[in-house]
Amino acid sequence: MRPVSVLLLVSLSAAVVVINAYSVPKPENNCSDNQHWDECGSRCPERCYNGRHIGTPCLKGCARGCFCNKGYMKESETSSHCVKPEDCPKINPVPPPKPPAPCPKNMTRELDCIPCTQYCDKKKNKMCPRICKPPTECYCKPGYVYDNMNNCVLPQDCPKK
Ligand SMILES: *[C@@H]1O[C@H](CO)[C@@H](O)[C@H](O)[C@H]1NC(C)=O
Ligand SMILES: *[C@@H]1O[C@H](CO)[C@@H](O)[C@H](O)[C@H]1NC(C)=O
Repeated sequence: MRPVSVLLLVSLSAAVVVINAYSVPKPENNCSDNQHWDECGSRCPERCYNGRHIGTPCLKGCARGCFCNKGYMKESETSSHCVKPEDCPKINPVPPPKPPAPCPKNMTRELDCIPCTQYCDKKKNKMCPRICKPPTECYCKPGYVYDNMNNCVLPQDCPKK
């Protein structure tokens, strides 16, 4: 063979190798941003956890793969993205408390103390401990009593027997 065709052949095969390397990147050359390949990385690298970052206790040993560069950590256990700890996403932001639904008519929760339940049928009235904290549920407004349908009515509107 003439030197020229040898050279051509060599450069052709080199080109094929280069094309192959580009179309099927080796995992070593395929780490995303802010990552590097490590033959012996931590088995449980630091990661984000609901807006914070955690490092879990870990067995010794090596894990091969892409690892976050120094100063970065995995966005989540399953994510392949590396972020700075201050950019850890909040997965479960605490929802703001919902305002409670308004109470039915003749009822309220705007009370200093949980009231003792009073009934039209006075025999049903029981002693009850005085719990002085604002109720979270609706109770009859002061002066109102429960009828046998559990509506709150004024005592004079209790069903006549
Ligand atoms: C290269 O990375 C991409 C995206 O992270 C992934 O889908 C692909 O499987 C990787 N290829 C190899 C050879 O690791
Ligand atoms: C509210 O109280 C009034 C006065 O007792 C009564 O007439 C009315 O039926 C009550 N309404 C409800 C929804 O309980």
